[in-house]
Amino acid sequence: MSPAPPLLHAILQRRSRERFDPVRPLPEPHLLSLLEAARLAPSSYNLQPWRFLWTMRGDPDFAEVLRALDPGNASWAGDASALVIGTFTRAGRRGRPNRWAEHDLGMATAQLVLQAVASGLGAHPMAGFDAERLRASLRIPSDLEPMTVTAIGWPVDESLPPRERLPLERITSRGRWPSGEER
Ligand SMILES: Cc1cc2nc3c(=O)[nH]c(=O)nc-3n(C[C@H](O)[C@H](O)[C@H](O)COP(=O)(O)O)c2cc1C
Repeated sequence: MSPAPPLLHAILQRRSRERFDPVRPLPEPHLLSLLEAARLAPSSYNLQPWRFLWTMRGDPDFAEVLRALDPGNASWAGDASALVIGTFTRAGRRGRPNRWAEHDLGMATAQLVLQAVASGLGAHPMAGFDAERLRASLRIPSDLEPMTVTAIGWPVDESLPPRERLPLERITSRGRWPSGEER
């Protein structure tokens, strides 16, 4: 059997970091390149349900986003260079709701995160925030649903716990799903 090709470096390197350089700025074109990576993600019927709002450290809106984060997240995310809010629209084809909107925002966010890592940045998505507070302070319209805030910054050394994942056999099956006894 031929050996499997190696995984992408960015996939192996990516971790949800909590320590960022609190002074090094992120040039705007650099941040826009991450959003461009998100823009190129695949989506159901190419509906591109994602909409992103972003703020840079030092912007008044950055402080607003920080205030909407759960305290545990706010304790470290203030050192990030940028905070990117991922929202989606449910609007689908022929007036029907798009059942894959969250999925596709997730695909776009994954591309953003991996592009960040490939560019030497850290990117840490968060669900721990007050969506309605964020909606009010950033004037997010009612047809957009905020899903995640991703902190992006220049990583500094931190000791991270080992990655914990379910084994591949537990989350995959070739063909039909194994019955209870087989698992
Ligand atoms: C949708 C989503 C929401 C998350 N929310 C938070 C959060 O609110 N706070 C946090 O510290 N980490 C959050 N995380 C990071 C996860 O805890 C992390 O990805 C997981 O523990 C695996 O660790 P790793 O990313 O370093 O591989 C979130 C990740 C995702 C994808």
